Amino acid sequence: MADAYDLTGKSAYVAGHAGMAGQAIVRVLDHAGCRVLTAPRTLDLREQTKVREWFADNRPEVVIIAAARAGGIMAHRERPAEFAYDNVMIAANLIDTAARHAVERLVFVASSAIYPRGAAQPIKESAFLQGAPDPGHLGYAIAKIAGATLCDTYRAQYGCDFMTAVPTNLYGPGDRYDPVKSHVVPALIRKAHEAKIAGNEAMTIWGTGTPRRELLFVDDFAEACAHLVKHGQGGGLFNVGTGEDIAIRDLAALVAETVGFRGKIVTDPAKPDGAQGKRIDSTRLRATGWRPKTDLRSGLAATYRDFLSRGDGGVAA
Ligand SMILES: NC(=O)c1ccc[n+]([C@@H]2O[C@H](COP(=O)([O-])OP(=O)(O)OC[C@H]3O[C@@H](n4cnc5c(N)ncnc54)[C@H](OP(=O)(O)O)[C@@H]3O)[C@@H](O)[C@H]2O)c1
Repeated sequence: MADAYDLTGKSAYVAGHAGMAGQAIVRVLDHAGCRVLTAPRTLDLREQTKVREWFADNRPEVVIIAAARAGGIMAHRERPAEFAYDNVMIAANLIDTAARHAVERLVFVASSAIYPRGAAQPIKESAFLQGAPDPGHLGYAIAKIAGATLCDTYRAQYGCDFMTAVPTNLYGPGDRYDPVKSHVVPALIRKAHEAKIAGNEAMTIWGTGTPRRELLFVDDFAEACAHLVKHGQGGGLFNVGTGEDIAIRDLAALVAETVGFRGKIVTDPAKPDGAQGKRIDSTRLRATGWRPKTDLRSGLAATYRDFLSRGDGGVAA
């Protein structure tokens, strides 16, 4: 393996530091000895002039782009222009400004939505640009494709050491436990917790419970971002996942156990199932020495502790 880039003492800017992934990345970079920089939440990353001024004042040496406007399938379908515009602007402004300020290493956080619909699973990085993404996520996906392509083209034309992390579904402390808008893990945590408190005999999950999800604990993802800065030689895309997936029904049972809900779990096949599942192949990143450390049971326990510690379940965050 080539020599690692030394993070100690580097000024590292985490864009999106208040988000679930951003908070974890701040913790990990701080622990790695970086001087972590964050921008005020009033800095709108879509605005080029303000972003350039902030870089001129703060001069980061390392940049991790974990800022994005992200939503679920319904939001992506109903407001595709917002997801396209915001995420294109965030990626383009930050990547171009980082190049102008000779940032030494940059990791752009994309999403597995960049891959073609129906790509062979587990999806390898080589599937990138081999077909159109799922039309339900088009605006968001095209913006993330643009971000990954900017990293590649700035590397090719200007020699920038920029690369792209492609995470699977993330969960963990700092998530939003909104019963309607949240991802599968925080939604199940809230549902199981409320069923326990109400003394219900059963909790109902949407759909058949058979779709499968690959889930990565957010601290493991943050470690992967720091690892990529140190060892992501060659750039391009790096999938970041566990390689394992779980059926929603089994996940619901594990969440119920974590929360202490002892009633039945009932499926509601009249409700939509969503995607049947998507697994990514993280062999490339693993070959550089990264491994996820947190098993699902421990990750869920940490997430439930976070839920309990936030009075509103983070909905108002
Ligand atoms: N969570 C997942 O399962 C998952 C899966 C695949 C990929 N990803 C990607 O991973 C990254 C982090 O996700 P996450 O779950 O941590 O998202 P998150 O919790 O929604 O955090 C995103 C952050 O970006 C900030 N942001 C959005 N628009 C901004 C703007 N115009 N100017 C400044 N800041 C802005 C938000 O700030 P405010 O809170 O102030 O709005 C928020 O702090 C994103 O790129 C996402 O697309 C996430």
